[in-house]
Amino acid sequence: MTDDNSSIEEKPKKPKTNEKDFLFKQDFKYKHDNPYHDRLAIFDKFVLRDDEGESFAGDWSDKVFGNKNQLEVEIGSGYGHFMMEHTQQFPDLNFVGLDHRFKRSFHLAKRLDKLEHKNFRYLRARGERLGYLFGEGEVRRVFYFFPDPWPKKRHHKKRLFQKRFLDDCEKILCAGGEIMIKTDHDGYFEWMLERLEGEDRFEATLKTFDLYKDAPDHFLASFQTKFEKIFLDKEIKIKAMVLRVKK
Ligand SMILES: C[S@@+](CC[C@H](N)C(=O)[O-])C[C@H]1O[C@@H](n2cnc3c(N)ncnc32)[C@H](O)[C@@H]1O
Repeated sequence: MTDDNSSIEEKPKKPKTNEKDFLFKQDFKYKHDNPYHDRLAIFDKFVLRDDEGESFAGDWSDKVFGNKNQLEVEIGSGYGHFMMEHTQQFPDLNFVGLDHRFKRSFHLAKRLDKLEHKNFRYLRARGERLGYLFGEGEVRRVFYFFPDPWPKKRHHKKRLFQKRFLDDCEKILCAGGEIMIKTDHDGYFEWMLERLEGEDRFEATLKTFDLYKDAPDHFLASFQTKFEKIFLDKEIKIKAMVLRVKK
């Protein structure tokens, strides 16, 4: 045995895809080293890949939808239950759903393709790009349902709900625009409440640790997403919040 470690070469650490993906600066490059990126091209009438969506920031209603309808955005659409139900129920609104998972996006795109009203676009993208995807005041509502809670302390930095997210929402929401949130996770909900302390740009018009008991008639209680049904089956109380931008 020797104390001399000089001959042991330290291998450079290769960043994981996820870590690289977390650099959301202006010059961020979308990565698409995934077979489902190419497969998603079949649905190019309504799926926008890489930074295609970002080229419409500020012009979604005119250039993409060709109308003046209100624009709504869902982050983390997952299997798309809310997106499919909501867009078909309200064909007079414009809707953009996004999720960063390739395979899940592909399976959702197959189902979206069959819908009657095509008043939506789908982005294989991350919510962290919100401020680059949409222009000043062009969004009416941002939906954020059952986000990944990243429960371990060392992963909290990966939670989307940070000051930066609130900055982006304040920018892209129109006057009276809202962020609507539902979660099963007490820890993440409390984290959100902490991030809102001293935050005077938003007014919480709903804030509950038990949606179905406290606000059974609220819009947020009128539908259940796929993950929500799983949590309700386990008798987990649904936490919910509506933040209205003060502008
Ligand atoms: C627990 S699932 C919930 C899906 C759906 N909202 C529901 O309630 O059934 C969370 C979804 O958010 C997506 N997601 C997680 N972090 C994201 C991010 N930063 N940007 C976009 N999507 C994200 C995941 O890929 C996953 O599909």
